[in-house]
Amino acid sequence: MNEENRLDVSTMWKTFKELLLSTKRQNIDKLIDFLDKSDFKLAPASTRYHNCIEGGLLAHSLNVYYESVRQKDLIKLFNIPMDTIIITSLLHDICKTNYYTIEMRNVKVNGAWVQQPYYGVDDLFPVGHAEKSIMMIMQLGIPLSDVEIAMIRNHMGFSKGEPNDVSNLFNKYPEALITHNADMIATYVIESPGLLKDFSDRLEVYKSGK
Ligand SMILES: [Fe+2]
Ligand SMILES: [Fe+2]
Repeated sequence: MNEENRLDVSTMWKTFKELLLSTKRQNIDKLIDFLDKSDFKLAPASTRYHNCIEGGLLAHSLNVYYESVRQKDLIKLFNIPMDTIIITSLLHDICKTNYYTIEMRNVKVNGAWVQQPYYGVDDLFPVGHAEKSIMMIMQLGIPLSDVEIAMIRNHMGFSKGEPNDVSNLFNKYPEALITHNADMIATYVIESPGLLKDFSDRLEVYKSGK
């Protein structure tokens, strides 16, 4: 749990909401209301690795949106409407809503044991990762197309699911590569704590799109 790099949750939430509302998707206001009342805004993106910080999940969702939009050539090739990019990127990980817990543990600091908080997991509805995101979106009344389901389902690529299933889905819906690429770049480039020094120096330039 990293308390040093605080994220601007209210600004990120405003951007997140405006993007979702711009899709004009049926029941999108209900979904925003659900997330607003949940722990989504303050949840981390992981317990120990990328964005394990308050607001980390919201930041990660926006990073996946920015990294999806960056793939202009693929978006054009597959002729994907912007509302599809917004819905799939911003909501691909909503399965992590009401998912993390904050627990305490003893840590030795300067020779003395002190209690420190850390993130744990208590999955109340363990029905798969991406699959759960799809179910939650649809249960909240948001219609999803087959392409959108495929994009969310395969966002983890070969790291989740049976290889043949993942490959078959990419073959049939190559649009899902956009969400997968974006999720990998957001996780391992933008949000990686282990960046090399010379690499991290250029990260702000990369993020600004120059
Ligand atoms: Fe994910
Ligand atoms: Fe993700």
